[in-house]
Amino acid sequence: MSAPTPRVQLALNVDDIERAVAFYSKLFDTQPAKRRPGYANFAVSSPPLKLVLFENPGSGGTINHLGVEVGSSAEVEAHQTRLATEGLLIDEEKSTTCCYARQDKFWVNGPDGIRWEHYVVLANSDAPGFSSLFTDKPDNVCCATPHSDDTPAEQAEPVGPADIRETVRRHYAAVAVVAGESSNKPPSCCGPSSFDVCGPGGEAVFGAALYAQSGEDTMSNAVAASLGCGVPTAVADLHPGEVVLDLGSGAGADVLIAAQRVQPGGRAIGLDMTVEMLELARRNAAIAQVDNVEFIEGYLEEIPLPDVSVDVVISNCVINLAADKRVVLREAARVLKPGGRFAISDVVADADLNAEIRASMTEWTGCIGGALNEVDYRNLLSDSGFEQIEIIETHRVHSHATAAIVRARRTTAATNASSRRH
Ligand SMILES: C[S@@+](CC[C@H](N)C(=O)[O-])C[C@H]1O[C@@H](n2cnc3c(N)ncnc32)[C@H](O)[C@@H]1O
Repeated sequence: MSAPTPRVQLALNVDDIERAVAFYSKLFDTQPAKRRPGYANFAVSSPPLKLVLFENPGSGGTINHLGVEVGSSAEVEAHQTRLATEGLLIDEEKSTTCCYARQDKFWVNGPDGIRWEHYVVLANSDAPGFSSLFTDKPDNVCCATPHSDDTPAEQAEPVGPADIRETVRRHYAAVAVVAGESSNKPPSCCGPSSFDVCGPGGEAVFGAALYAQSGEDTMSNAVAASLGCGVPTAVADLHPGEVVLDLGSGAGADVLIAAQRVQPGGRAIGLDMTVEMLELARRNAAIAQVDNVEFIEGYLEEIPLPDVSVDVVISNCVINLAADKRVVLREAARVLKPGGRFAISDVVADADLNAEIRASMTEWTGCIGGALNEVDYRNLLSDSGFEQIEIIETHRVHSHATAAIVRARRTTAATNASSRRH
């Protein structure tokens, strides 16, 4: 029977694999779980330990690396998000073959140079595999050689819109898990990723602190878990009786604020694709005792609402995450009533946001890599059936991007967005 996860992993270099296997089999009263030329691992159940041995003659008696084995990719991502939030530099590897197994993992450097990995074994492999971080080294043992610190955090490129959306979903699922676990703690400054989360003076550029600056309620758990880059409800001019739709509602802060503004008679709908976020938002709505709200599962690209059913579309730092913004903006126009308002916060890229940043999925999930520039934003809004377009910079969030309020009205003419039956 294999040992339970999570468990600590101790990976040792040994001079002679046969002698080491014999010794550790006795020490832990356990036979190796996996044995290959120059390699063995033990799944020790008590205490929970994954012991890995690499035959590296001349290096015997030293630590190869350390790790934490967990039970699922979501747990890997949750730890990754937590550590990125703590400011550690993360090297991520998805679906990599290493140590005769296919794994999702990430690495961080300890202060004394010891490398720690968090990983999940997805499947066994006949191939020894090499960590992609170590392919510049000829060593015949996976994970054997430290790599330089300047390896880009995300190496695997998405191949299409579905990959981008799935990467974004997985990222925010992990963020929701972390936020749900720490809802009583003050939020850290500020976002969950590797972008510039604080301004030059250390001021917050994402999240709950922006609500305090705008004079909005800052007490709810939902606001504490905000990942936004502005406060759309502060500029949406909401009135009693209106129906408000929040695209990518996350933990629900803007939905809860909007719901209170449109009372009596109005309601607020939060749309999100990430089940973990929807669960968090529903819990936050119950705690806040706001009942004219609804959180629905779905994609921005296929909003599960009828045509012409919404007075105001709001959104907070989400449109930049979509792979195809044109489809999203057409959907927003489709569900809005003629003359309906579009009032969102989003990241807007500088004209010089470079291809390297755009190609990084860490920058994309961190709300920078996928951001439109102002010209493209205006053109897409106009093409999608909006008029009276204004884009007003609020604060810098990155050396090549700014947060902005984007407002527009759905034209009173019929939109060219396709109608959908629901
Ligand atoms: C940066 S967070 C912002 C959450 C929230 N608006 C806030 O201010 O805290 C992005 C949210 O949008 C959701 N999201 C991203 N792309 C989406 C898509 N294509 N369809 C539906 N939801 C999406 C994510 O699941 C996540 O909850």
